[in-house]
Amino acid sequence: KVVAVIMVGGPTKGTRFRPLSLNIPKPLFPLAGQPMVHHPISACKRIPNLAQIFLIGFYEEREFALYLSSISNELKVPIRYLKEQKPHGSAGGLFHFRDLIMEDSPSHIFLLNCDVCSSFPLPQMLDAHKRYGGMGTILVIRVSAEAAHQFGELVADPTTNELLHYAEKPETFVSDLINCGVYIFTPDIFSAIQGVSTQRKERANLSRLSSFEALQSAATRSLPKDYVRLDQDILSPFAGKKQLYTYETMDFWEQIKTPAMSLKCSGLYLLQYRVTSPDLLANGDGTKNAIITGDVYIHPSAKVHPTAKIGPNVSISANARIGAGSRLISCIILDDVEIQDNAVVIHAIVGWKSSIGRWSRVQADGDYYAKRGVTILGEAVAVEDEVVVTNSIVLPNKTLNMSVQEEIIL
Ligand code: GDD
Repeated sequence: KVVAVIMVGGPTKGTRFRPLSLNIPKPLFPLAGQPMVHHPISACKRIPNLAQIFLIGFYEEREFALYLSSISNELKVPIRYLKEQKPHGSAGGLFHFRDLIMEDSPSHIFLLNCDVCSSFPLPQMLDAHKRYGGMGTILVIRVSAEAAHQFGELVADPTTNELLHYAEKPETFVSDLINCGVYIFTPDIFSAIQGVSTQRKERANLSRLSSFEALQSAATRSLPKDYVRLDQDILSPFAGKKQLYTYETMDFWEQIKTPAMSLKCSGLYLLQYRVTSPDLLANGDGTKNAIITGDVYIHPSAKVHPTAKIGPNVSISANARIGAGSRLISCIILDDVEIQDNAVVIHAIVGWKSSIGRWSRVQADGDYYAKRGVTILGEAVAVEDEVVVTNSIVLPNKTLNMSVQEEIIL
């Protein structure tokens, strides 16, 4: 049997995701019309002999309850939310719940970060992992040398794929091969994490007797004893010991730390629907006969005027109303939004219950990596008629009656 664990973090994480994370836990923010965490969950469904999926985080359980019971029924896999009382780090969280995770005596444990966008080639990883015969296999991808420093950089043996060296977000360039935050482990991972905690305790005791503490970095010294990071505390020390291996994906992969990246990833998942769930893509006939171009998701309860032109990369959530003659390109329209006649939305995320007046424009240049490359409206923002909002971020409950450009409206 195999189990999967998805690390969802908690409210103190994901601050870069504001203002959207003010309303909803980041893992539930919709990408291509489905909660962010839905995409790794449905990928887990393809793992042979999957017994259970666990979500570990320090959000309140009730925030996930409704979604998890419905997805669990739909996929016919037990999915449980395990709440940490405080953050234990990416490996510490796993270790904290080891008894529950090992309940079904799984032979393998998948571990996935919630905030990555990928095709999650999990069955292929499992096969590769069995061939390598180590304790763990890491999904890796090659990125540009300029981008690599934001991730764990690693060196792998080109023939055996063994992990030879690992450096978490290093200041000087190590490698353009990076950690995708998707892993498979044998249950030996628990002894490895235990080993790190024990070693820390021993060092703490030793430092009371000697000046040993001076040798440890300030960052490690200040960590609680049960806080274990998978990257720094496990991957780095176990590299080069024939225990960890890599599996390189040639498919898409992105990290989702900002609202702008969620728009990019929404587009990647819409594209993937062409293969996995074509029924979720709007095609301009049937009940939603707006003018559709490219990949578009429209929630069944949304009302879209037949003369609206929509796409590519547009996701429209529940109860949104899209007026006559409006034009939507590369955007996420959240629940209960009203877009009035002849309005234009390009490279933007429009928050829950917001409204955009007639002939208004909410737009940006679409640079996903820039600070204001995507315009974001928080919850219940009102853009009045004929107002143009360009490359801006607007916090919840604001009314805009004048055009703004390159601004953060607090
Ligand atoms: N439950 C729980 N508890 N989850 C946590 C905790 C914790 O204490 N700390 C982090 N997480 C979750 C986050 O929500 C996220 O899904 C994942 O664990 C990793 O988060 P971080 O440890 O903050 O690392 P990161 O996202 O900056 O970088 C990691 O992922 C990159 C890939 O996206 C590293 O592993 C990088 O090397 C890697 O490239």
